[in-house]
Amino acid sequence: MVADVSENGRLTIGVPRETVPDERRVALVPDIVKQLVGRSNVAVLVETGAGHAASFPDAAYEDAGATVVPNAEALYAQADMIVKVQRPQYDPAAGVDEVAPLRDGSILIAPLQPLSHPELIRALAAKRIVAFSLDAIPRITRAQSMDILSSQSTVSGYKAVLLAADNLPKFFPMLTTAAGSITPAKVLVIGAGVAGLQAIATARRLGAVVESYDTRPVVKEQVESLGAKFVDVGVDTSDTQTAGGYAKEVSADVLRRQQDVLADHAAGSDVVITTALVPGRPVPRLVSAETVGRMRQGSVIVDLAAETGGNCELTVPGEVVQREGVTIMGLLNLPSLVPVHASQMFAKNIQNLLALLVVNGEYAPDYNDEVVSGPEGKGALITRDGDIVHAQTRERLGPVAAAAG
Ligand code: NAI
Repeated sequence: MVADVSENGRLTIGVPRETVPDERRVALVPDIVKQLVGRSNVAVLVETGAGHAASFPDAAYEDAGATVVPNAEALYAQADMIVKVQRPQYDPAAGVDEVAPLRDGSILIAPLQPLSHPELIRALAAKRIVAFSLDAIPRITRAQSMDILSSQSTVSGYKAVLLAADNLPKFFPMLTTAAGSITPAKVLVIGAGVAGLQAIATARRLGAVVESYDTRPVVKEQVESLGAKFVDVGVDTSDTQTAGGYAKEVSADVLRRQQDVLADHAAGSDVVITTALVPGRPVPRLVSAETVGRMRQGSVIVDLAAETGGNCELTVPGEVVQREGVTIMGLLNLPSLVPVHASQMFAKNIQNLLALLVVNGEYAPDYNDEVVSGPEGKGALITRDGDIVHAQTRERLGPVAAAAG
């Protein structure tokens, strides 16, 4: 149990300034701070400048009831709980260690991507941190309001369309003017999950003609309700969704068929937005170099899967490149480009999670709650009391490693 948390009364939540380059978001926004201080009776510390890049000045946090502290050292020294947008950076060999300043036994809430960062998880366990990973919140209806993957994907889907529109040497809408008529842009959205559906809605609002494809046939209706056409690739993909609503990996044959059909549609599109992911599996390659070669000069591809390698063969993660006259945008962290609302949604997700963890200013979680942890360790809790308690992470890293850490 967290011995030194809450013993002096109110739980103190710390909001550090994000250290990852180009991260403009902040974990809590003043409005949510005000509610947490007022309704949940917690104390909130904010590192000076934490909200600056998201247009939330220190004064707004002070007005909301937070205390602004001059540096990260002061924040970490006093906080019982740290909330962050990015996982703590941890590469001790390179002199980077954001785990060290955390108080032993304190609480951390951040997206940790535990399966991809075993050293970070071991370091957190060794410091007896009670670590919650925001990307491990179960995707069940009750937890939807805490799901940062959904809220931030919404932002990405929206921004992807604006980036495409900005880089396309054409209008999106149909125009009838004295200087002639303009035909609407054609947009293909591959992957109609949270980001894809938002991209469809945004492209439609800008007046584009939109088509979309996803392996999960259940989304056909959602795509059509947004005014887009669902692409039929002519293969049976009825068994492509898990009980949790995620995609399953498709066979090599089905993938090849998808690539062929989508290539024809991409070739006829001005903009292709790709969002296809399969949790825990390699990213599906859906747009080949050859397909890019068939696209019209000036067309734009925005690859939202760039972070995990890209749905397009020619995507360069983190960069915008020109290939065969096509602009391929592999930009990372799109939510950071809409920092006000991305932070607002992120903060709301955290507030909703805190409702399960904090009762009247005290850290009082129900570890049996399946969102928190549950008997099988399938919730957001990753480490506690020096051990790895999250089942999947423990399976990957092993409990002994944690105990030895
Ligand atoms: P995601 O980011 O993992 O994947 C994006 C999309 O890519 C998915 O729709 C997936 O079906 C699609 N995809 C995968 N392989 C593909 C391929 N080869 N070709 C074309 N498309 C492919 O998923 P996301 O957007 O985070 O969520 C997907 C679904 O999960 C949602 O639509 C919903 O049903 C469910 N969900 C449930 C939540 C809850 O209940 N709390 C929260 C969020 C999502």
